[in-house]
Amino acid sequence: MNPFLHLNENVKHNWFSLKELSCKPYNKFDAHPYTKLRVILANGAEFEAVWFLHQFHRHCADNDLRRELAFLRREEQQQQKRLASLKPINESILEHTIGYEQLAVELTAMFAKRESDPYFKKALDFALLEDFDHLYRYADLLDMQKEVKAENLVGKLTEIMPARPTIAEHRCPCDDIKRWCNFNKADLLTKLQVGIITAAEQQTMNYYMNQANFYTEKLGRELYTEIAQIEEQHVSLYGGFMDVNTSWLECLVMHEYTECYLYWSLVNDETDPNVKKVFQSHFDMELSHLATAARLLEKYGKKDWHQVVGDGQFPEAIKFGDTTDYVRDVIANTVTLTGKGEDYVDVSELESDDCFFQYQDQVTEPHRDVASHCVIAKHIADCDTDYRYQKKEHPIEELRDQTCDNTTLGRK
Ligand SMILES: [Fe+2]
Ligand SMILES: [Fe+2]
Ligand SMILES: [Fe+2]
Ligand SMILES: [Fe+2]
Repeated sequence: MNPFLHLNENVKHNWFSLKELSCKPYNKFDAHPYTKLRVILANGAEFEAVWFLHQFHRHCADNDLRRELAFLRREEQQQQKRLASLKPINESILEHTIGYEQLAVELTAMFAKRESDPYFKKALDFALLEDFDHLYRYADLLDMQKEVKAENLVGKLTEIMPARPTIAEHRCPCDDIKRWCNFNKADLLTKLQVGIITAAEQQTMNYYMNQANFYTEKLGRELYTEIAQIEEQHVSLYGGFMDVNTSWLECLVMHEYTECYLYWSLVNDETDPNVKKVFQSHFDMELSHLATAARLLEKYGKKDWHQVVGDGQFPEAIKFGDTTDYVRDVIANTVTLTGKGEDYVDVSELESDDCFFQYQDQVTEPHRDVASHCVIAKHIADCDTDYRYQKKEHPIEELRDQTCDNTTLGRK
């Protein structure tokens, strides 16, 4: 599929009426878990599109160009509203959160499996284990406070058990800064994956930043607050791979191309006919956005879209599927890694005065009070065991004990 062969050059703005911004929500009891993930993923891309276009607008002196951006931005806004309306009223904040972390796990693992750039793959594997652990912490909160088993929400497609303990994920900011990627040399798939994963993590960060204060109970508020910090680290990590030398207009083409690729993948993968229709209509809109972006690049940037995306042929589509063995393998081999400068090292290799330990001492002590630990400790105190969904024995011996939360692995 090459979207440039299907561009709609004659862009006519057909706005959705306010009524049309509300779509029919999926049914939370019978929607496929991957449908929920796809909706969250698309919503994240639209958030990114909107915010990118605001930033561009604020850095642009030409009002003719700013008016063109305004049209695009309003359409991205409308698309985001339609996607947001697919979430049903009866799905709670915490249930929706399980979807965010399941998406983080499934998308990151799928991307890592097919990533050709070993340096970016390392980043994906690294953050994968952290979101995987978040899923476990939120699942325990959900079981304890709402008596909902998260395994039913994730459809038993994703395991729920500890990985790199969230308490061990708090790092000095300097250790999330990696080398940016040269987009002139990178594979098109790498460029797409950098953009999509950054948007997804950014959406999660924003969600937790907002939800922390609306959660109606203290431990939950603290858990959202803590994990929001880790999501900020993930946004720094992934956002740092963007090529710093691309112009605003080149970024615009890349954004619209990425949205086309995303919706094309989602349409192919979607099983709910109603949601599929929404994705299809958005894909059609994105083809017109891409046409506009290419025209603006030519007019104001004196460049051709080929210079941004080569021949424009899409790489293989995004498709959700079983990642259990892959995730287990990454846990088994890298659970005790931490960030160190532009790379990763085993925590045991750090000097005792490393900034990791200094940061940890200031932020996570006393560790008995840290929410990500308390939620498991409380579940164990109430039920004599934590809540997990495992398909077989945990690959790491230190994380097998269901009656004691490990706060030292990857940290001491
Ligand atoms: Fe969009
Ligand atoms: Fe997460
Ligand atoms: Fe994350
Ligand atoms: Fe768009």
